[in-house]
Amino acid sequence: MEGYSWKAAVVTLSDKGFAGEREDKSGPLICKMLTDAGYDVQKTVLLPDEKEKIKKCLCQLCDEEDNDIVFTTGGTGFAPRDCTPEATMEVAERNAPGIAEAMRLASLKITPRAMLSRGVSVIRGQTLIINLPGSPKAVKENLEAVLPSLDHGLAILTGRDGECAR
Ligand code: MTE
Repeated sequence: MEGYSWKAAVVTLSDKGFAGEREDKSGPLICKMLTDAGYDVQKTVLLPDEKEKIKKCLCQLCDEEDNDIVFTTGGTGFAPRDCTPEATMEVAERNAPGIAEAMRLASLKITPRAMLSRGVSVIRGQTLIINLPGSPKAVKENLEAVLPSLDHGLAILTGRDGECAR
């Protein structure tokens, strides 16, 4: 990609991480994988599993801070407080289910527990939002499955297809 790097934000959703009871390893791992792929990670955020806070943060990252892509990690499972997919769906303008489908398809070849992630992928304005599960292992496996195809989608979504199509 020449001349432009996709602007990205990474949001970790974890009650324990927010309370300082668990080190966030997944957020930094996403940042590293994105940076290695040529993305410009502009912001990282750590929030508890609270739907209204997550929605507000996602809206700000999409509408005011002008990110091309926002990744979340955590809160996609069945625990009572897991609400990342609900928060994401409530700020979505369009669904982009193929990305979440591709992540589960690839992940199911590694572990049957991949079916337990309820993560979604959506579009708000000109920003793509992708939910990743919470563990560093799951982050790596899910992100590796879709990262090579995101560039083309972002180019179409943002109208920068002439500028940075690979
Ligand atoms: N996907 C991959 N590729 N690898 C994994 O180890 N773990 C699963 C699933 N997706 C996993 C995975 C498990 S055990 C759970 S509970 C769900 O992601 C949800 O994770 P979360 O609650 O941390 O978001």
